[in-house]
Amino acid sequence: MTATVFVVDFGAQYAQLIARRVREAHVYSEIVPNTISAQEVARRAPAALILSGGPKSVYETPAPTLDPAIYELGIPILGICYGAQLMAQQLGGEVARTGAGEYGRTELTRVGASRLIDEWPTSNNVWMSHGDAIAQAPSGFVVTGRSPEAPVSVMEDAARRFYAVQFHPEVAHTERGQDLLRTFLHELAELPTTWTNTSIIEDQVDAIRAQVGDEKVLCALSGGVDSAVAAALVTKAVGKQLTCVFVDTGLMRMNEGEQIESTFTRQFGVELIHVKAQDRFFDALSGVTDPERKRKIIGELFIREFEAVARELGAGGDGPRFLVQGTLYPDVIESGSGHAANIKSHHNVGGLPDDLSFDLVEPLRNLFKDEVRHVGEELGLPPEIVWRQPFPGPGLAVRIVGEVTRERAEILRNADHVVVDEIKKAGLYRELWQSFAVLPAVRTVGVMGDGRTYAYPIVIRAVTSDDAMTADWARLPYDVIESIANRLIREVDGVNRVALDVTSKPPGTIEWE
Ligand code: XMP
Repeated sequence: MTATVFVVDFGAQYAQLIARRVREAHVYSEIVPNTISAQEVARRAPAALILSGGPKSVYETPAPTLDPAIYELGIPILGICYGAQLMAQQLGGEVARTGAGEYGRTELTRVGASRLIDEWPTSNNVWMSHGDAIAQAPSGFVVTGRSPEAPVSVMEDAARRFYAVQFHPEVAHTERGQDLLRTFLHELAELPTTWTNTSIIEDQVDAIRAQVGDEKVLCALSGGVDSAVAAALVTKAVGKQLTCVFVDTGLMRMNEGEQIESTFTRQFGVELIHVKAQDRFFDALSGVTDPERKRKIIGELFIREFEAVARELGAGGDGPRFLVQGTLYPDVIESGSGHAANIKSHHNVGGLPDDLSFDLVEPLRNLFKDEVRHVGEELGLPPEIVWRQPFPGPGLAVRIVGEVTRERAEILRNADHVVVDEIKKAGLYRELWQSFAVLPAVRTVGVMGDGRTYAYPIVIRAVTSDDAMTADWARLPYDVIESIANRLIREVDGVNRVALDVTSKPPGTIEWE
């Protein structure tokens, strides 16, 4: 069995980032709740534990805690921020409410010989975010790092293999954070590098074969990264047993359908059913302006189209028994119960209901998005699919304010293509979370040549984000904005003005609807 690190979650968003960083160090990690019992930990036998940071103070009641018997199991532990303070408190040290916290970039001074940070220079920049501080390390620990307001910034008990840091090694602002995690994992906890793209693919291929046997499998391709990578994995595992369905809603980005078709049929030799349902979607959306109604109509029609294909395939009695879903690990964590059925409905439009009588194949269930992309590359999917920015299930419809018509979808698709093309040329596509065009429901006056125009503005929306929960508007260089604007006016019929959206989330959302 592959060595697993448990990241114990003490709240906020820290645990996911730590789990990702552990995997970047090629060790498999899972997030577990802080209520996990010592018995459960002993039973599942993780190779190491990392206690995450969290938003609480150890002085709050109730403050999240850890079953103290876990410290008796002989498992190496790294405590981070809140996790470090909790270790100090539970093992007999002292945490003080100093009233002087540290937030942001902070200088860490190394003191004496250290196992964890021995390669570090005497002084180094780290990222802090704490109000309380460890005042006294528990017995058995030596203090090997301090900062102006945290006298015990790093403490180590080499005999028990317990280590704790007040700062956040998982964030990029901590200069040697990833080195620290690697030292803990590989040298102190002595874990080998077993989690690689190749091992992920091999494990999943075996698991899919074991689950599916010689039954048939169905997969809905959406144009997005997740369904494409899931389908590619299933193809590698069971080849011709897979049939893919691509429902073209008329609301996809430019060339998306062609790209899916050529990749999956020509490159992978998959049987692909391309449902050209554009007319039915535009008919159903005619006269509808309410955003939620649009979502509902698109979601329901998508299911109907998909069901029709599934029924036809099953007509002979030997139809597919399994359905592929591109559920990712963050969805599994957020749904709490560890079952994909609870995924937030808002972001599951274009998803399929569970009363379709299929058994689910979810080959990405343990993976983070960046891992999915790397696996996709390794499987030979083209970069345009693998590195595509997220795209909402209802497609362009939630970027067309007001009525969605064939003509307005065409204007937006052309405009979107220009935005994406210029962003790619400027080398910004991968660093932006999303960058796209929005079509408002107003027209404005302009002049072009000798004539007056009365046409639509296009809004450029570009954001940076880690997880779409919050986002900041991207500070695009002026010359990039200028080339986008020039091309939009020149090349896209029906557009005579360009605006830039400078709203963060919150208070805005990323999409306009
Ligand atoms: P908002 O607009 O809520 O979007 O800030 C957050 C992220 O979710 C995507 N999004 C959707 N995805 N169905 C989806 O599958 C939807 O109805 C939907 N609405 C928004 C959005 O693109 C962003 O990445």
